[in-house]
Amino acid sequence: MRLITCENYDEMSKIAAYMVAGQIVLKPNCVLGFATGSTPEGMYAELANMHKSSYLDFAEVKTFNLDEYYPIDRANDQSYYYFMNHHLFSKVNLKPENVNLPNGAAKDAAAECVAYDKKIEDCGGIDLQILGIGNNGHIAFNEPGEELTAGTSMVTLTDDTIKANSRFFASEADVPKHALSSGMATIMKARQIIIMISGKNKNTPLKKLLSGKITCSVPATMLNMHPNVTIIADKDAING
Ligand code: GLP
Repeated sequence: MRLITCENYDEMSKIAAYMVAGQIVLKPNCVLGFATGSTPEGMYAELANMHKSSYLDFAEVKTFNLDEYYPIDRANDQSYYYFMNHHLFSKVNLKPENVNLPNGAAKDAAAECVAYDKKIEDCGGIDLQILGIGNNGHIAFNEPGEELTAGTSMVTLTDDTIKANSRFFASEADVPKHALSSGMATIMKARQIIIMISGKNKNTPLKKLLSGKITCSVPATMLNMHPNVTIIADKDAING
């Protein structure tokens, strides 16, 4: 694993955006894996800016997001679809038919999850996957536990995650209890992975990731088994 140390959040956002832009320039029809949360917001702003000022062209790019709350309608302003549309999709020339998130309004969640993994494979797999990390070490919504799930599936959010994500909702009670989340194998099949880590409260999961030990109780540590992972972390996350 390669670690890029950044002075602050802005530098982390820029470096991640340069790497995504590089991928798009090298392979204009690449498949990108995107994450939500506050960590990648600055990177999306940089990418929108590169599109506007430097003609970064998303015309042939395909995207797959990691996860979506369940049940939720994509028009709901707390949905991850809404988040992505607000921060990126509406600001660049991605074709609507080329952006994908698990459908949080699907009646048959299990069938939706199987179809989602199949669609990623049919598109040739993910070239570059962006990840954030939860305070408890989760990636996508793969929560700590005795077991992890390989494929995309419906998951139950932990109290920790519900509490952490309640800052985006009117109250903790409004946070959905479930999500459709990419599985560990869905993530590990990506050819290249960037994990962005910012802020003092991410010091503990970052240290676990860097320890080289692998445990289901910190799902991100599985990334130690992937051949091409770059951690982009700011000093607050590194120093705690
Ligand atoms: C959510 C998402 C994750 C994200 C995590 C951290 O739970 N499912 O993909 O990495 O939050 O979010 P933040 O970047 O806001 O700390």
